[in-house]
Amino acid sequence: MSDTSPSNLFYQSHLSRPMLDYAEGIYLYDVSGKRYLDGSSGAMVSNIGHSNRYVLDAMKAQMDKATFGYRLHFQNEPSERLARQTARLMPNGLDRVFFVSGGSEAVESSIKLARQYALVKGKTTAWKVISCSPSYHGCSLGALALTGYQPLADPFLPMMRDMPKIPAPACYLDRDDLDDTARGLKYAGMLREEILRQKPETVLAFIM
Ligand SMILES: Cc1ncc(COP(=O)(O)O)c(C=O)c1O
Repeated sequence: MSDTSPSNLFYQSHLSRPMLDYAEGIYLYDVSGKRYLDGSSGAMVSNIGHSNRYVLDAMKAQMDKATFGYRLHFQNEPSERLARQTARLMPNGLDRVFFVSGGSEAVESSIKLARQYALVKGKTTAWKVISCSPSYHGCSLGALALTGYQPLADPFLPMMRDMPKIPAPACYLDRDDLDDTARGLKYAGMLREEILRQKPETVLAFIM
């Protein structure tokens, strides 16, 4: 029997959602047995299928051996192996991997890495990260500063350092008749202008 008392979780709306029971491949099943075809992998994160047997077996095998090893104190073979395989897929020269827990943390880590690289290279004035609007780069404060979506960012502007934005390419909305190359140059030109407007020596990176 399902519990009908009010939820103690934060949701983004008061709409009620079906209670998920289990999932398999491209399907999700609620507690009444109703089946849902997941056409977008949830929020695009389950793209090798829900409850994938290979993943579950690998997770279980690792959990049975060890659930945590702090990276200041230990290396572990699964992380080393995944990093090696990832590096093999990267362009030459990109051979170091830093694992994180999600998108916002990935964005924050990458801009911090860029800033540390600039400092090592003596470019201490470079800190601005240009991004597009609209865009979504996450909801933690650093990633939100790059997110080009006012309803999400506005309430927190006093608490963060807002970053410069340029228009995101929106070919289907552009009322012109440019071919792909000309359109690419048009948007690249906007980035160039923004870098010049911000003063190039202050610009650290562009994220899209
Ligand atoms: C492009 C992009 N960057 C960052 C994020 C933030 O990821 P997370 O919700 O895992 O923090 C998302 C999430 O949808 C995303 O689509």
